[in-house]
Amino acid sequence: MGGLLHLLVTSFLLYFSRAEATSAVGVNYGQLGNNLPLPPDAVRLIKSRLSAGSVKLYDANPQILRALSNTGLEVCTMVPNELIANISADQALADRWVGSNIVPFYPVTRIRHVLVGNEILSDPNNRWFWLKLVSAMRRVQKALKKNQIRNVKVGTSMAIDTLELSSVYPPSNGSFRSDISGSVMKPMLQFLSETKSYLYFDPYPYFHWAKDPEKINLDYALLESKSIRYTDPGTGLVYTNLFDQMVDSMVFAMEKLGYPNIRILMAETGWPSSGDYDQIGANIYNAATYNRNLVKKLKARPPVGTPARPGQAMQGFIFALFNENQKPGPTTERHFGLLYPNGSRVYEIDLSGKAPSSGYELLPAPTNNKPYKGRIWCVVAPGSNNRTALEAALTHSCSQGNGTCEAIRPGKACHEPDSVLSHVSYGFSSYWAQFRKSGASCFFNGLATQTIKDPSHGSCKFPSVTL
Ligand SMILES: *[C@@H]1O[C@H](CO)[C@@H](O)[C@H](O)[C@H]1NC(C)=O
Ligand SMILES: *[C@@H]1O[C@H](CO)[C@@H](O)[C@H](O)[C@H]1NC(C)=O
Ligand SMILES: *[C@@H]1O[C@H](CO)[C@@H](O)[C@H](O)[C@H]1NC(C)=O
Ligand SMILES: *[C@@H]1O[C@H](CO)[C@@H](O)[C@H](O)[C@H]1NC(C)=O
Ligand SMILES: *[C@@H]1O[C@H](CO)[C@@H](O)[C@H](O)[C@H]1NC(C)=O
Repeated sequence: MGGLLHLLVTSFLLYFSRAEATSAVGVNYGQLGNNLPLPPDAVRLIKSRLSAGSVKLYDANPQILRALSNTGLEVCTMVPNELIANISADQALADRWVGSNIVPFYPVTRIRHVLVGNEILSDPNNRWFWLKLVSAMRRVQKALKKNQIRNVKVGTSMAIDTLELSSVYPPSNGSFRSDISGSVMKPMLQFLSETKSYLYFDPYPYFHWAKDPEKINLDYALLESKSIRYTDPGTGLVYTNLFDQMVDSMVFAMEKLGYPNIRILMAETGWPSSGDYDQIGANIYNAATYNRNLVKKLKARPPVGTPARPGQAMQGFIFALFNENQKPGPTTERHFGLLYPNGSRVYEIDLSGKAPSSGYELLPAPTNNKPYKGRIWCVVAPGSNNRTALEAALTHSCSQGNGTCEAIRPGKACHEPDSVLSHVSYGFSSYWAQFRKSGASCFFNGLATQTIKDPSHGSCKFPSVTL
């Protein structure tokens, strides 16, 4: 009896320490691509090619949840933003959501987290339901409890801009934005603390560095620096990388609201492997370096933690599983994947933390770590030959801004050559030159690409962006 009990206890402990160690690093499975593998194939790749311990979804796609059953992978699912307002006011709706999106798959699919919305506190368009977020989280939690599901944590993902001025210099100055601090963050931290859940954070040293590459050292952002030290004047804590600074800024922001102990889980982090002329530092070398270093950090045993939380184990999900060709925004957004859609690796990486004994492959040297200086135009991408789509894009770009397409009208300097391709390229360049500052990308659903070769001809001058 004693022997059996001992055996049970031992295997119990072994089981849990193993589970904790294998799930430390996972991957975000986004689906904004029209060329991605089917869920069962994607799940096989997650296990066989990446050795990931966990997977995070942006919904509760039943095909994917089914494909993840009996795989041992831990799973994070998501309540879509659109449902938050209604769920916040309606327990029956929360019960139904859990009843149809969690209960049928649990526990053979090892669901461990439910995020209520994705970075909703970063989008002012969502402002009208910010105040409903925490009650929606509470209702989902209650619905899980009604079904005796006790080991699933409820939270929401948060970007660095939930902090005042997105400030991480110094980390001890971190505080939540004043428009959400008392009204949303304080009750949210109370909920996370009561339920022993996590603050789900999306730290991206890449974006922070790319905004200020002259001031922030690249190796410091890549978790690669051996010598740079930054001392927080407020605490005396010494930092050796930007990632720790970002995480600790969240720690100090929570502490200021009276919650110093809530664990932080990295819901997303990553580095793009390709970008355009105006997107510095997006290359395979940097992406591989950052993600490999991150895996090493999260898998280190004993855990290393951060300066404010030394020795604390951390889990994280790398963004992303695949390059997603339909993700809007700058080119980098479509190149965060660890795998190409055909399943082959963008670069070698093993999320279980075991680098091959011979070491990883040599990486191509980075070519775009310095800011590009010069003019850029936005033109029709090679291979874009869908006339209907091109004409629709031209109508769209010409309908915005000031005299955007004036120069291509009959009799004007850019009317000749009178071809769709030439006119659309002009429209793209003219539109982008006016709206890049307010966030427009040279993408147009994949029809456009940046060029540094001036498409102007004769007296026809194409508008450009100057960096
Ligand atoms: C939320 O509830 C309102 C009122 O019942 C309904 O009209 C709306 O369609 C619901 N929204 C969603 C996303 O289900
Ligand atoms: C600390 O943060 C506040 C805003 O929350 C800012 O005004 C101040 O300049 C910051 N201090 C330092 C040293 O960065
Ligand atoms: C997969 O796609 C990538 C990127 O398009 C390409 O470089 C690679 O050769 C492809 N691999 C296979 C096995 O087709
Ligand atoms: C061309 O573009 C139109 C409009 O975007 C789309 O509906 C259509 O399916 C496309 N055709 C092809 C062959 O891709
Ligand atoms: C168009 O012109 C108006 C008035 O001069 C100006 O306020 C606006 O910012 C311009 N729009 C763009 C996209 O340049």
